Amino acid sequence: MCARAHSDAGDIVITLGCDYNYEQWPPEIWRDDVALMREAGVTLVAINVFGWSDIEPRPGEYDFTRLDEIIGLLHENGIRLNLGTGTASPPPWLTRAHPEVLPTVADGTRRYPGGRQAWCPSSPVFRARALALVEQVVRRYGDHPAVALWHVSNELGCHNALCYDEASAGAFRVWLREKYGDLAALNTAWGTAFWSQRYGGWDEIDPPRLALSTRNPAHLVDFQRFSSDALLDHYRAEAEVLRRHSSVPVTTNFMVTAHIRNLDYWSWAPEMDVVANDHYLDHRLGDPTAELSFAADLTRGLAGGRPWMLMEQAVGAVNWQPHNLAKDDGQMLRNSLTHVARGADSICFFQWRASVQGAEQFHSAMVPHAGTDSVAWRGVLELSATLGKLAEVAGSRVRARTALVFSWESWWAADTEARPSQSVRYLDQVHAAYNELRELGHTCDVVAPGSDLTGYDLVVLPGLYMVSDSQAKVVEEYVAGGGHVVVTFNSGIVDEDDRVRLGGYPGAFRDLLGVSAEEFAPLLPGHEVTLTSGATATLWMERLRATSATVLDTYAEGPLAGVPAVTRNGNAWYVATALAPAGLRDVLRRAAEAAGAVPEGPGRGVEVVRRHGDRRSYLFVINHTNTEIEYAAHGCDLVTGGAVDGLLRVAPGAVRVVREEPTR
Ligand code: GAL
Repeated sequence: MCARAHSDAGDIVITLGCDYNYEQWPPEIWRDDVALMREAGVTLVAINVFGWSDIEPRPGEYDFTRLDEIIGLLHENGIRLNLGTGTASPPPWLTRAHPEVLPTVADGTRRYPGGRQAWCPSSPVFRARALALVEQVVRRYGDHPAVALWHVSNELGCHNALCYDEASAGAFRVWLREKYGDLAALNTAWGTAFWSQRYGGWDEIDPPRLALSTRNPAHLVDFQRFSSDALLDHYRAEAEVLRRHSSVPVTTNFMVTAHIRNLDYWSWAPEMDVVANDHYLDHRLGDPTAELSFAADLTRGLAGGRPWMLMEQAVGAVNWQPHNLAKDDGQMLRNSLTHVARGADSICFFQWRASVQGAEQFHSAMVPHAGTDSVAWRGVLELSATLGKLAEVAGSRVRARTALVFSWESWWAADTEARPSQSVRYLDQVHAAYNELRELGHTCDVVAPGSDLTGYDLVVLPGLYMVSDSQAKVVEEYVAGGGHVVVTFNSGIVDEDDRVRLGGYPGAFRDLLGVSAEEFAPLLPGHEVTLTSGATATLWMERLRATSATVLDTYAEGPLAGVPAVTRNGNAWYVATALAPAGLRDVLRRAAEAAGAVPEGPGRGVEVVRRHGDRRSYLFVINHTNTEIEYAAHGCDLVTGGAVDGLLRVAPGAVRVVREEPTR
């Protein structure tokens, strides 16, 4: 057996935690639950997330009896709190007395209460009532020794990000005035000469409610920005009340995931004391596990490379997809350790005990309906034991040689109405590039447009549709300084006002890439085109010519036969079509080789990621394949406690974590 070591981060360990909706259970069960939490090694519990109607049963009448009791019980048992402000869902008395707090959707109709998050982000009444509640909660518990973290609201914007009521219209106008200063600037930015949309007064501007025809895309993108800012403003308001009375760190749970896109977390992240994400496998996607890795890398990017928290994931199935798949044996452990490999220092679950009533009855939990004689519970114990063995990893950081540029603004702008092809979706193109980098074994940072790229061997820009001059300049300077980039189609097309860049596509990157396209030529869904190399592609082609680039591949057939599809201009590669995975992988492999970007692992279903401490590095090898694999390594296998002297064997579906000696 090899010896245990202390984490570089001192006593920090990898935390195991969960949401506990104690309101759903009688106190007798709380006691059993807390005993089981101790057995499972749970040390952080999120409570009072949906507690509003419990702790403020009538307007201004607060009752903390049950919350006091559960907090006391958890504290006595050494369990710390991720304490919710309780404002996630308004109680019925509030929406009955003030229906104007309810959200209004794009067709101008109001949504009823009866679900959750039934509030409009710009409602002054909601804000006032929510802050009054936060004030009560923080005054009562702000100094409580059990409180480790403040959990503002819950997944802000999960359902209510875009609200189209009159309160939002007013707040949108204020936001626009601040952004543009005068109406002339707004009219120019939005191109309101088109379709007689010129505004003569601020009060003529509304949220982009549903119209009979296509709406103005610049108006839509500004409304997305405003809506993200409106919720961030709500976060700030709650955080400000908390900070007035408590010195405990404050955060909220992000939704860095495939089906939520309304918040630009690049602007949110700097305001969090710790970056936290919720992640659920999405079986509607081609490769849910690859999406998990992407989301984890993006969350690390949001955290600026620092360790982050996985605030929610599921032990097994969720209940909100059309088909809610159970996890295979070992999958929950594998998923959890993938998050750890990619920078998470806390692994928490939604939720502790499976609900018997309410809208989430069939969502998995650490304690399932069947009780503790279950795969779920045994899996939790196994995870807990494994995290215990990985304590020393806490505080260490991933170092990547490649980066992928990701932009919520491009997501909003590229996926709007009246684009060249509704089948070209921004996130699909991001995932396509990321997945092939992962298949090639590269560990990748996910960074914001405009971030410093020096230090990376290779940077990939998939479909970066909307890009400002200054963001484009960062890429140019990076390449001028010796960096290598791969840009994929639908990049650099518009500026930050959604104004097309003239002179040939891909506007902002035309000179860098040494190409120019005069026309897009999308393919119908289901159609495929073959390239001269034998690679195949779908969805997108361009009438492209090389100005200074070398042509690496052309269309072998169809109306664009002979036209360039893949080019290289020095260190800048361009992929002008949606290459099938093998072809895209091949281009990325060649670009990485040219860039000297050495993959960390073999890829092909074997995920290899390193975390680096001050004195040690930790090698994570995650085997997604059906066969045992061997990987060269030296050091201590923290999972088994055995020494690794040259060759690490990893069983199908298993994860190994090696403290490397010498440090890599
Ligand atoms: C999250 C949410 C939790 C729970 C969970 C179910 O979106 O924060 O409250 O609903 O999903 O997967």
